[in-house]
Amino acid sequence: MADDSAAHTVGPTRTSSPEPLEVLYEKAGQPRFGLPPALATAYGGDLGFTPPCVYANFVTSIDGVVALGPEHPSSGSAISGREPADRFVMGLLRACADAVLIGAGTLRATPRHRWTPDYVCPHAAPGFAELRRNLRRATQPELVVVTASGDLPTQHPALQSGALVTTTPDGARRLEGRLPAACTVLTTGEGPTVRLADVLAALHAHGHTAVLTEGGPHLIGSLLSEDLLDELFLTTSPVLAGRADTPRPGLIAGLDLMPNQPAWMDLTSVRRRGSYLFLRYRLRSPRTRVSPQAGSAG
Ligand SMILES: NC(=O)c1ccc[n+]([C@@H]2O[C@H](COP(=O)([O-])OP(=O)(O)OC[C@H]3O[C@@H](n4cnc5c(N)ncnc54)[C@H](OP(=O)(O)O)[C@@H]3O)[C@@H](O)[C@H]2O)c1
Repeated sequence: MADDSAAHTVGPTRTSSPEPLEVLYEKAGQPRFGLPPALATAYGGDLGFTPPCVYANFVTSIDGVVALGPEHPSSGSAISGREPADRFVMGLLRACADAVLIGAGTLRATPRHRWTPDYVCPHAAPGFAELRRNLRRATQPELVVVTASGDLPTQHPALQSGALVTTTPDGARRLEGRLPAACTVLTTGEGPTVRLADVLAALHAHGHTAVLTEGGPHLIGSLLSEDLLDELFLTTSPVLAGRADTPRPGLIAGLDLMPNQPAWMDLTSVRRRGSYLFLRYRLRSPRTRVSPQAGSAG
């Protein structure tokens, strides 16, 4: 859910400290970390993940738009209206992660962003830090950027602070000598794209088993094509974005799932603040994804 503090769009509601989220539904038996009290209060309860896991976080308009097109940087911020509760959830999900995985398109489209918990929700920083200490996580999640082309804005502050850049042999050649010293390059395979299973295996080898992806749509398509996504956190923002002539992608780009390979999901949590909905879904295993009757949220 890329967002940028310098974005200009302001939504219908803004406060410096969000009201607690109202829990409308929570499936029984969810994993629980034991959040620090301030975070548990704001989230309306506990949160946890069973590693290894890859979970995505996105904000969408009611009509399914997650990006406004190349001429609009930081479109996640525009779509969310910079809603404080959305920024809190974004920060909380980052605080739970060993690593945050993004595609190069999101990096290019969000020029000043940092993919850290504090950047999007500074007032919750003490709680985020306590949670990471409790979980024995590093101070900040590792940023992992995926690029086939190697066409990265090397002056981007998120790269200047250090990131793992995963790329193809061609991408690695293009990046040679251009990345900040704080970055590490991981080249996977010989093909034209990065095999994301190899990226996750490399992260797991470093003990990074809780991986948050903040997309964008092409990266989510890649993850789904390799059947690597476990969960989705989706904020539905109370806004209509519309589509005219510019491409305005939904959650997934570059991959057809229906009608032949529908990815059915189970709803595991519904929270609300004002007119915003915060949905949590778990993907069914490939064997059961084919049938909408195979499970229910209850
Ligand atoms: N609403 C939200 O929550 C949200 C969240 C995230 C992003 N966004 C928006 O989404 C838009 C960007 O969309 P996007 O789909 O272009 O973003 P993206 O998925 O982050 O980036 C796509 C790029 O990632 C690289 N990539 C993805 N999968 C790869 C693979 N398997 N192997 C190698 N490279 C791979 C490629 O980079 P190269 O081109 O360098 O080869 C590809 O062009 C922006 O407007 C952003 O603001 C919105």
